[in-house]
Amino acid sequence: MQESYDNALLGRPDAEPPALAPRLGIVGGGQLARMTAMAALRLGCDVVILERNRLSPAATLATHALVGDWNDPAVLAQLAARTDVITLENEFVDAEALRSLEAAGRVVLPGSVTVSRAQDKYQQKALLEAAGLPVVPYARVDSLHQLRTAVQRLGLPLVLKARRDAYDGRGNATVRTVDEAESAFHALGAGGARALYAEAWCEFSLELATIVVRARTGETVTYPVVETEQRNHVCNVVRAPARVTPEIAARVSEVARRAADAAGMVGAMGVECFLTASGEVVINELAPRVHNSGHYTIEACACSQFENHVRAVLGLPLGSTRMVAPAAVMVNLLGTRQTTARPMGLERALAVEGANVHLYGKLMSGAGRKLGHVTALGDTVEQAESAASQCAAAISFGEAA
Ligand SMILES: Nc1ncnc2c1ncn2[C@@H]1O[C@H](COP(=O)(O)OP(=O)(O)O)[C@@H](O)[C@H]1O
Ligand SMILES: [Mg+2]
Repeated sequence: MQESYDNALLGRPDAEPPALAPRLGIVGGGQLARMTAMAALRLGCDVVILERNRLSPAATLATHALVGDWNDPAVLAQLAARTDVITLENEFVDAEALRSLEAAGRVVLPGSVTVSRAQDKYQQKALLEAAGLPVVPYARVDSLHQLRTAVQRLGLPLVLKARRDAYDGRGNATVRTVDEAESAFHALGAGGARALYAEAWCEFSLELATIVVRARTGETVTYPVVETEQRNHVCNVVRAPARVTPEIAARVSEVARRAADAAGMVGAMGVECFLTASGEVVINELAPRVHNSGHYTIEACACSQFENHVRAVLGLPLGSTRMVAPAAVMVNLLGTRQTTARPMGLERALAVEGANVHLYGKLMSGAGRKLGHVTALGDTVEQAESAASQCAAAISFGEAA
């Protein structure tokens, strides 16, 4: 019966279907796009993924997948022609190319101005500082001379960071001596194509994060503040809510809202902070997209970061960020070596009560590569962490020995 209704509308079986639902284009096809696509599909949207890899985590479940280079204006134009709104799963897209789409009347959210402000970590720091927000002292490092000045001004140790295209700690180097600083300066590619900057070392007691979602109207909502734990610079565990005073949590939410306003953000934005020993909140970085520290919101919050991102960019009302359990812990499933990413141990993992397994469908594993995550809810963070850790420990990737 259903089929005959649809056939009546289509006319011929091979006819292009009419666009009845909002069509969301996502630049990038990794796990962030995959989980965003799932939320958008649930809201009845058509989802078009643009990624170089035809079998990317998001492409395999999208309504349509475009294969191509997202920095190629012709490819972006194809994506624009098939969609109503374009959004991004990463901040590495050429802002100029996005600007051309906007000039042609396309809706790109977050917009090119926000992306250009956020994709350069040095400019991001300047933006936050100009908005009166707390950042770690930082300095421009375009030459060895500036590097030496930075060492004098910021002290040692310091962190040298690539300004662009860095993630999961790639592009960062912590240096303890002037010699180390100079070697890292060359190793990170300074003087060549890669611009760097330096940051003072922050002796944090805890890393905190939140997701702020800003609507087209400028209205914002924030998710509970969480503790994040990085291992080898890669997010490993997220604990919600953070075990900090209400004043500290409120401060993180406040700086996140103000950062989203300053960036002119539309959509979900991850805000990573350091909590210093003296109780001060300092922003580490902004990610103008859904973020690993918000994966727990799928099960733990009334409306997930992914759905709220979709709502924000489509101009729909934002959903509640309230937690539906007292605590939640997310543990990332990271690859350990280069091998095919065949998941093993699911039987034992799924036997852990209350733990939710998410696998991203990646084909290849690699050291530190994010292949999935586990979220467990609980009455306390400790209880949730015990279930999440037990479940995550049961899963590994590769070929059976
Ligand atoms: N200035 C700093 N002081 C101390 N630790 C830092 C500093 N900058 C970064 N880190 C550590 O390295 C991790 C990754 O750095 P970050 O700049 O956030 O890179 P990425 O873009 O790869 O997430 C941080 O979460 C933190 O643990
Ligand atoms: Mg980071």
